[in-house]
Amino acid sequence: MAKTKTHYVCQNCGHQTTKWLGKCPSCSEWNTFEEELTTSSGTKQTSKSAKKFDSKPKPLTEVSHTTFNRFKVPDEELNRVLGGGIVPGSLILLGGQPGIGKSTLILQTALKSGLKTLYVSGEESKEQIKLRSIRLNLNGEQCHVLNETMVEHVVDVASELKPQFLVIDSIQTMSTEKLESAAGTISQIRECTAVLQAFSKSMNIPIVIIGHITKEGAIAGPKLLEHMVDTVLYFEGERNYAYRILRTHKNRFGSTDEIGIYEMAGEGLKIVENPSEMLLSQTEEDLSGSAIAAMVEGHRPMLIETQALVSTAVYGTPQRSATGFDLRRLNMLLAVLEKRCGYYFGKYDVFLNIAGGLRVTDTGIDLAIACALISSLVDQTLPSDFAFAGEIGLSGEIRGVHRIDRRIIEAEKLGFSTIFIPKRNSKNVDTDKFEIEIHGIGKLQELRDMVFAGV
Ligand code: TYD
Ligand code: MG
Repeated sequence: MAKTKTHYVCQNCGHQTTKWLGKCPSCSEWNTFEEELTTSSGTKQTSKSAKKFDSKPKPLTEVSHTTFNRFKVPDEELNRVLGGGIVPGSLILLGGQPGIGKSTLILQTALKSGLKTLYVSGEESKEQIKLRSIRLNLNGEQCHVLNETMVEHVVDVASELKPQFLVIDSIQTMSTEKLESAAGTISQIRECTAVLQAFSKSMNIPIVIIGHITKEGAIAGPKLLEHMVDTVLYFEGERNYAYRILRTHKNRFGSTDEIGIYEMAGEGLKIVENPSEMLLSQTEEDLSGSAIAAMVEGHRPMLIETQALVSTAVYGTPQRSATGFDLRRLNMLLAVLEKRCGYYFGKYDVFLNIAGGLRVTDTGIDLAIACALISSLVDQTLPSDFAFAGEIGLSGEIRGVHRIDRRIIEAEKLGFSTIFIPKRNSKNVDTDKFEIEIHGIGKLQELRDMVFAGV
């Protein structure tokens, strides 16, 4: 079947053979051989695009600049995450766990935008895609669906159809006829992307490549492509919860600081305008082990509930579990609380949960987590109108956080009476400007007097 020659290369030491081997005879590593195209005849597609590069150097001042003619899609979150819209000729990778809603997001965007789209699916039949569009309640006159897994055929069809938008769902199902290895292998993914990249640049068509990643995120596939594409978006969330975050991981045409928040509803993904309202507790009663963090994800401030449960360990070794938060950081916070404040968690199981199934990357949430942990340990409730923002350092100091004004404004807007912020930040904040009571806190030890004594 293979028309071009391939060989196998050890990914560890570069040793080449004509056959696949389990163990490299040169470096003795196992399972390192990958099929690659022989350069003399094989990399036609990539060398074609390489030829286009201008080999003469030019002073930067003489280089003409063209502004990108981005086009906006009728999804403000997606536009924002992309840095203002889709750039023609760009290659966008959308990664995420299976079932998170990648196909839904892209299909609804294509259908709503009315752009002439070619939706290539190697996973679902045309009928399944039709059913999805009915579920989304959208009409797709301009959306053409194709069930194809050979990337060369996709390029042929697209060259003829000349769509404004091309979707590949998913890259793991695509293969090139030049390689014999199965679809989804590293070499197939890399080679197919190279073909698509050359196509998108030559025809000036934006392509969205959907790629699955596992929970660990490290599986061969999307990670491998990050350097080849212009923009990398990751769609995250817990499958059991309805909320999804679209995060920019890399963007050659905009900032990587943006996020988009969606909710998976019965008829597709809905934009969440006011994330704080949904992330705060639904119960009226004050409960121990719960504290509200004023955090910032991307550029967006939001208030989120952190919940901790500290209970006597049933088994010999206490359990530590965190949902939506880095487990190593939780262990670090427990160690700091023990060493600096004398709260002993050693014989307790500790469970930590961030409401809404979100994964938080902002370290400004530390202070709220420490409060939730102490609150559960000593079984004292915190007033539900207290909010916290601050990062905790190893010596128990409360470190400054960015965008403090935005955090305070958001807390005030949502009717909180008091916010605890790092002392460093409080020096620069004009407290008279706000109605909310603002307390600067310098060290973790101060929590004892400031928060837990009066409660
Ligand atoms: P899907 O887009 O197929 O995920 P992916 O392409 O990332 O694998 O969406 C998967 C889930 O979304 C599926 O379990 C059903 C759910 N869903 C809804 O809840 N509402 C909807 O309107 C649609 C289309 C899907
Ligand atoms: Mg899918």
